[in-house]
Amino acid sequence: MMKQIFENQVALVTGAASGIGLATAQAFARAGASVALADVNGLGARAAAQALVDGGYQAIGIECNVAEMEQVEAMVATIVSTFGRLDMAFNNAGVQNVLAETADATVDDFDRVTSVNLRGVWACMKFELQQMRKQGNGAIVNCSSLGGLVGGAERGTYHSAKHGVLGLTKSAALEYAARNIRVNAVCPGLIWTPMADQMVASGQGEALAGMTKMIPMARHGRPEEIADVVLWLCSTSSSYVTGQSISVDGGFIMR
Ligand SMILES: NC(=O)c1ccc[n+]([C@@H]2O[C@H](COP(=O)([O-])OP(=O)(O)OC[C@H]3O[C@@H](n4cnc5c(N)ncnc54)[C@H](O)[C@@H]3O)[C@@H](O)[C@H]2O)c1
Repeated sequence: MMKQIFENQVALVTGAASGIGLATAQAFARAGASVALADVNGLGARAAAQALVDGGYQAIGIECNVAEMEQVEAMVATIVSTFGRLDMAFNNAGVQNVLAETADATVDDFDRVTSVNLRGVWACMKFELQQMRKQGNGAIVNCSSLGGLVGGAERGTYHSAKHGVLGLTKSAALEYAARNIRVNAVCPGLIWTPMADQMVASGQGEALAGMTKMIPMARHGRPEEIADVVLWLCSTSSSYVTGQSISVDGGFIMR
């Protein structure tokens, strides 16, 4: 993936200040793309972009909360005014829910999680697709999850949002299949990122260790292993692939 396969192309990654998003933004840059790193953590996004620029790559950092429509619209406008186009987008920003069984979960937490993990992805797609439709090309990858494919006790809000992302992916894939825009999703399994650290800190370490034992490859994944699949889904190597969700989970889902 180190070839300049994305020369003269522009990539957007949301949630790019940390974890999977950061690794993917760095991979896009190394593969020759100009990269917009967007995150609600504007400082983190700008610092990560600056580090790429210092390394000789093309990047900008943008503060954007994907739960806010105007911010998402402004983010895409900034990318187009800076780089002139938008060819690829990884809609990756996401948050965990507060663990609670359905009878106890709060409407505030439902709204917080879905406004980022589901409506946030929809909002990003909406404005990305307006630009891609105008250009007549594009590739979008949405970040779902293993949680987009199976249920999870005390995780109903997260899992339902991640299932919803697959519905958005398939629907948009159908709309744009004949217009040179492909839309796919990745379903990461257990990937070690600051989100996993957070889960350990909130007392879910044992659950994570138990889950690792159930992974056929007997290890958690690295953010770079998601980045590789996202880049493939954005490249011409996957030119006949649309509307798919690719599990990147060490074999977890096939059991
Ligand atoms: N780590 C895993 O095991 C795992 C597994 C399956 C799916 N995922 C999904 O992968 C994606 C990335 O997760 P990660 O593990 O890298 O997490 P992370 O917490 O390390 O990074 C997430 C980034 O998203 C940003 N973000 C959060 N809310 C935002 C908002 N409203 N607008 C813009 N940015 C926002 C955060 O500031 C952070 O920089 C998420 O969608 C997550 O649900 C992760």
